[in-house]
Amino acid sequence: MNILVAGGAGFIGSHLIDSLLKEGHSIVCADKLVMGDKNIEHLRQDPNFKFYEMDLANRDNADRLFSENRIDAVYHLAANSDIQKGGKEPDIDFNDTFLTTRSLLEAMRKADVKKLFFASTSAVYGEMPDVKLKETTGGLMPVSYYGGAKFASEALISSYVSMCDMSAVIFRFPNVIGPRLTHGVIFDFIKKLNDNRNELTVLGDGTQCKPYIYVLDLVDAIVKLTAEFKPGEQVYNLSVKGEGTTVTKIAETVVEEMGLKNVKFNYTGGDRGWKGDVPRFSYDISKILSTGWEPKFSSDQAVRQTVKDALK
Ligand SMILES: NC(=O)c1ccc[n+]([C@@H]2O[C@H](COP(=O)([O-])OP(=O)(O)OC[C@H]3O[C@@H](n4cnc5c(N)ncnc54)[C@H](O)[C@@H]3O)[C@@H](O)[C@H]2O)c1
Repeated sequence: MNILVAGGAGFIGSHLIDSLLKEGHSIVCADKLVMGDKNIEHLRQDPNFKFYEMDLANRDNADRLFSENRIDAVYHLAANSDIQKGGKEPDIDFNDTFLTTRSLLEAMRKADVKKLFFASTSAVYGEMPDVKLKETTGGLMPVSYYGGAKFASEALISSYVSMCDMSAVIFRFPNVIGPRLTHGVIFDFIKKLNDNRNELTVLGDGTQCKPYIYVLDLVDAIVKLTAEFKPGEQVYNLSVKGEGTTVTKIAETVVEEMGLKNVKFNYTGGDRGWKGDVPRFSYDISKILSTGWEPKFSSDQAVRQTVKDALK
């Protein structure tokens, strides 16, 4: 297939492109390079890889991709991935997370492109700490601008699926970690411990607990469902088997892997790291497991491997 990967220069998008190229697909990647282009440097010479630097919230830009290329399917990963940054400036989420979806859907409608894969998030559920979240769980009330913009995107996608006979697969990712990751709790701890090897400030009370999936496991699931694409709209919670990992456990893992001893943890207190954070959630992933996909790493293993990757 000829595939457009929107946000393909990012952490997850670049791993996805590596995998789709190996499967024999041709890739058009569009990205405004918020984090630079280092994740796609190795692809520049690949004859099956074409790159556009552009803001996809701009509709003319999105239209141009479809007029200059034959595109069979769109993988939409372009978004603001820094929830705390969006918390200070809501326009970032409106522009990068929601308007990119609007532009791409409109461009697809005009070009009559029917297949969409969308990178959504657990943040659409809001705070439901006592519920094992299923794709059919209702009453979703996002608590961050990011979650709101993703939820609004999902709703818009649903309407285009119905109005334009499109097909869409919506993946609700948990925390995704692994090589090429550029921010988040693991990076924060490593940076702080490099500055002070005796003490570590931990946001919240350390009991926040979420599932962390290794990026290559996640990409495996997306590529598997690409090969088995079903018409209509499908939503999948994508995550690891078993329990999530607490923030304190992440801190301990980083300390161990850095070879440090007797580090004092200073908790800032409260049940969450920042406003908009969802301190704990748990997914039911029976739907994605029923496709035959299996994650290789547990949450704790994904954390340890990512710490090792980051310290290389
Ligand atoms: N990393 C996670 O833990 C996680 C969890 C849930 C969902 N997701 C979703 O997965 C997708 C990829 O996340 P990631 O971690 O790789 O993030 P990332 O920030 O590394 O990648 C996102 C890419 O989108 C690009 N982008 C942003 N706004 C754009 C715009 N207006 N026009 C064109 N390009 C734009 C950025 O330049 C960046 O390269 C995002 O949609 C994110 O919301 C990520």
